[in-house]
Amino acid sequence: MNGIAVVPVPARVEPAPGVTFTLPPRAVIRSDSAAAGEALATALRPATGFALPVVERHTEPDIELRLGEPDPALADISEAPESGYEIVVESGRVVVRGRTEAGLFHGVQTLLQLFPSAVDSGTVQHGPWTVPGGRILDAPRYAYRGAMLDVSRHFFGVDALIRLVDELSRYKLNVLHLHLSDDQGWRIAVDAWPRLATVGGATQVGGGAGGCYTKAEFAALVAHAAARHVTIVPEIDMPGHTNAALSAYAQLNADGVAPGAYTGVDVGFSTLAVDREVTYDFVRDVLAEVTALTPGPYLHIGGDEAKSTSTEDYLAFMGRVQPMVTALGKTVVGWHQIGSARREPGRIVQYWGHEPEPDEDLRAALAAGDRVLLSPADRVYLDMKYDAGTRIGVDWAGHITTRTAYDWDPGTLLPGRPDVIGVEAPLWTETVATVADIDLLTFPRLAAVAEVAWSPQAARDWTSFRSRLAAQGPRWTLRGIGFHPDPEIPWV
Ligand code: ACM
Repeated sequence: MNGIAVVPVPARVEPAPGVTFTLPPRAVIRSDSAAAGEALATALRPATGFALPVVERHTEPDIELRLGEPDPALADISEAPESGYEIVVESGRVVVRGRTEAGLFHGVQTLLQLFPSAVDSGTVQHGPWTVPGGRILDAPRYAYRGAMLDVSRHFFGVDALIRLVDELSRYKLNVLHLHLSDDQGWRIAVDAWPRLATVGGATQVGGGAGGCYTKAEFAALVAHAAARHVTIVPEIDMPGHTNAALSAYAQLNADGVAPGAYTGVDVGFSTLAVDREVTYDFVRDVLAEVTALTPGPYLHIGGDEAKSTSTEDYLAFMGRVQPMVTALGKTVVGWHQIGSARREPGRIVQYWGHEPEPDEDLRAALAAGDRVLLSPADRVYLDMKYDAGTRIGVDWAGHITTRTAYDWDPGTLLPGRPDVIGVEAPLWTETVATVADIDLLTFPRLAAVAEVAWSPQAARDWTSFRSRLAAQGPRWTLRGIGFHPDPEIPWV
């Protein structure tokens, strides 16, 4: 396993020099988990052309996926050992052990990367399908490892989201945060307020057709993600970034007049009417319906850039809305501007700054002991251009090369010792209109962020990463991902 090209890099790798395992055509997978077994077999079948039956019992399986039997050493390498796994590759068999379904699934993702890259082809390729021998022991640094897609500025159908979820899960990311509402579009059907979909969802940046997920579509996405151990975190951004809702319902506006649709890219001009009672009926209904669609623990209420809401109104609004989230049994997540508002116990503030010193809102959150999700704009904002030549993207937080996205430590980014729950890479879509645009800005930087969030700081370094990342290039090509060929990476 010397020099294995796995991303994110596992916490511990013990090579067994001279030992290899080669998948035989009649290989059998024995699995304690039908889901993990099928995840492995489904990924291996197209390129190998092998049948790869998945069975519960077998005396001599070629690959074995075992639940339980925790290796106590996992607790030494991670605070989330339950999501960890162990892989042992011997000449005659491969055993993957996970403490949980999620751990086993993560182990399967690593095993897939140990096979030659041709394994990612959708059509039958020549083997041999050989894996280097040795042992891997691995578990995540952070429990929350995410990406965000802004589906408001430009709408993307569920197929695009499913494709993204599949890629996230390959790199052991476990959250897809969806920015479901903003000035330009409302993207989730709400039965109690139907004009959100029909009027609020009717356009996007540049004036295109927009769109809105039906509840059935959203449920299908949530289920697809859950099967890959990815949690969908829904965001309804409030009280600013709300023109789409305001355009659908006049009564949500302070002057009782609905504005027109907005298809530009300005921010900070809209606000819900904070002193109207109907606003809270609206928020309560929306949050309840969104909660019913998402089994995960988090509900994101935005709270950023409310430049048209007075500070007093903002604090009053957040003081009422955060407890609604708690009452629904969800954990409040908000952009770090909610840091100054009444603190909801256990809440998470998502840091998106890029200044050397924390601003007032972040300082308040840190002082209060809020948990922190790190999305530093100058490191992991995927909408920043790589360099001046990137054909789409913005640059207000600077250019972000793959190395910039990689070379930082979430443990030391913020002063004090905040309770960091993880890292998330947001993709805002003012300039992102197609799946090819998503690919260009997301890959390869998403893989860098995945390693930042998963791997122990001591196990990773840029030189190793760039050569392991290079090996992902052919895999992305086989999977139809149009990645940015960052010139600092020695692409294979
Ligand atoms: C943000 O980028 N406005 C959170």
